[in-house]
Amino acid sequence: MADVAAALDKAGLTNTHVREYVEHWAGVTGASQIEVVSAADDARLIQEALDAGELLPAGEGRYYSRSYFKDTARAEERTIVATHDEADKGVYNNWRPATEMKEKLVGLMTGASEGKTMYVIPYLMAPKGSPLEEYAAGVELTDNRNVVLQMIRMARVGAEYINDLGDSFVRAVHVTGDLENLGQGTPDDKRYFVTVADERTILHFGSSYGGNALLGKIAHGLRQGSYDGWKNGFLVEQFMLLGIVDKETGKKYHICGGFPSASGKTNLAMTLAPDALGDRYYVEFYGDDIAWLWVGDDGKLYGMNPENGVFGVAKDTNEKTNPTAVDSIVEGTGAIFTNVAYNPKTQEVWWEGKGDKPTDLDGWEDWKGDLIADRQGEEVDAPWAHPNSRFTTTLENVPNVAKDFEEPQGVEIHGVIFGGRTRDREPLIRAIDDVAEGVYDGLTLGAEATAAADGLEGVLRYDPMSMRPFMSYSEGAYAAHWLEVFSRAQKKPVFAHVNWFQRGDDGRFLWPGYRENLRPLVWLMQYMNGEVEGERTPVGVIPKRDELLLEGLDEQALADLDTILTIDVDRWREEIGHRQVHLEQFHGLPEEIWEAHRRVAAALDDA
Ligand code: GDP
Ligand code: PGA
Ligand code: MN
Ligand code: MN
Repeated sequence: MADVAAALDKAGLTNTHVREYVEHWAGVTGASQIEVVSAADDARLIQEALDAGELLPAGEGRYYSRSYFKDTARAEERTIVATHDEADKGVYNNWRPATEMKEKLVGLMTGASEGKTMYVIPYLMAPKGSPLEEYAAGVELTDNRNVVLQMIRMARVGAEYINDLGDSFVRAVHVTGDLENLGQGTPDDKRYFVTVADERTILHFGSSYGGNALLGKIAHGLRQGSYDGWKNGFLVEQFMLLGIVDKETGKKYHICGGFPSASGKTNLAMTLAPDALGDRYYVEFYGDDIAWLWVGDDGKLYGMNPENGVFGVAKDTNEKTNPTAVDSIVEGTGAIFTNVAYNPKTQEVWWEGKGDKPTDLDGWEDWKGDLIADRQGEEVDAPWAHPNSRFTTTLENVPNVAKDFEEPQGVEIHGVIFGGRTRDREPLIRAIDDVAEGVYDGLTLGAEATAAADGLEGVLRYDPMSMRPFMSYSEGAYAAHWLEVFSRAQKKPVFAHVNWFQRGDDGRFLWPGYRENLRPLVWLMQYMNGEVEGERTPVGVIPKRDELLLEGLDEQALADLDTILTIDVDRWREEIGHRQVHLEQFHGLPEEIWEAHRRVAAALDDA
């Protein structure tokens, strides 16, 4: 048995509630050592991980890791929200009774960390001093060193963040389990990822992949956070958050928005203003995956990014698509790459869409660790990197991170956007002035699923506000909560739906995307200011062609523009029928949402 008290004393962890919690779970999991970590331990832990072969060097101050090959994405069907009240059951949250799930997880975790070190990670999912600080603190216990290193990059980590917070912290227990014997994806699957939301306790068993194992990020920062927000008057969403500075007028706008996982949040938030816009705008990065939103005493809507880092999709990240991301993962940044291709001889990493594929195959291994040169038959064309391979880096490494990203007061939100991978129907952008119609639009966000969730790539599905995998309570109550929070905001932000992924008959993307996405966003801010009027359609206001900044767009994009600035009314009428069925699943959906639905349907009928 580990000497828990001695380890906690040594780390200056004085919060008695935290101490009791750690002692309890050290007993359950049977860990043989306890170690409290803080960000200051990073260099030592990196060295230990290198010595143990858990990390491999990827040049100077950069690291490579692989997760088990059956453990490379979030496992949505194994993810459960448990509470004591069945009224919390929704369509998407996989609700189960709290008592049943706690018992099951204690069973799975009992003795499961024997012989291992249990790391104690006190963390804060907010800048210090945030008005939401009391909901942002947590203590993750994990038996996996790589999880510690990723958490140090993704959250603010150290005992100082939680010592003064008494009992208001999330208890987040992560046990890796025997990955080779968990029956992933079979009827005998032993993995369970449970958030006991009304006890603020997270119990995850059976993975070391980031989306399942970095409990501060998705389980607390999204699932638990949204439950706490519901009970305490704020919103927690899978949103990126960026600032657009108009250098000519000095005005600054903040836009947040939700796209499903692997649909462009990180790229949008990181991408610098294209030179094509005449150097007039500058885009500042606040966050790329989570935003917490609240109404301040002054009646304005505020937002902040609770994270301290970026867990980005590697695929297609290159100098042209996202130079900012490339800069934030260069040598010396401490970035960790997971499940990309790796060459131990040269310490290089590679992924599809990084640039030219290495022609000298000597040393190259794919994401599973198999030598590329040994590939035979069909394997030859298989991707080298996993489609959900990732990089982890801190916000400080992002060249365009906003100067005030760590200021606790957050930033005023001017626009809320929704989007996703939609190959037809959805135009480049449509602005929505009415709050109920904006919330309705979020609730009916339909898009193609991506490789960020196991086994679902390409499946068309509705993903309300992009929160489907993170929903913690019932959708009807969720919609009502959105309306309630916005009813308190005296100055309402504008809503919009965007789509960078409409395709032509030949399958090509009709919009060049990436850095060019600033153009529709600038239009949206001009629309909000009354500087452009756009064209009213049954589903929102779309830009007139000449209202968009077009200078510097390539010829193909100019030729395709009319298609993505039109509404296909027939296709939309059909969509209304699908939406009707989708919304009917939700019990207790506010009448205001149904009214918005009927207004849009009627406008389409009249069109
Ligand atoms: P996130 O998971 O929502 O943060 O999405 P990412 O920003 O990481 O992007 C996911 C994938 O979509 C990556 O492979 C990107 O290269 C790709 N992507 C992002 N933005 C665009 C875009 O505007 N157009 C196209 N065609 N692809 C994009
Ligand atoms: P993503 O974040 O949205 O960038 O993919 C991780 C996830 O949601 O799994
Ligand atoms: Mn995400
Ligand atoms: Mn992302």
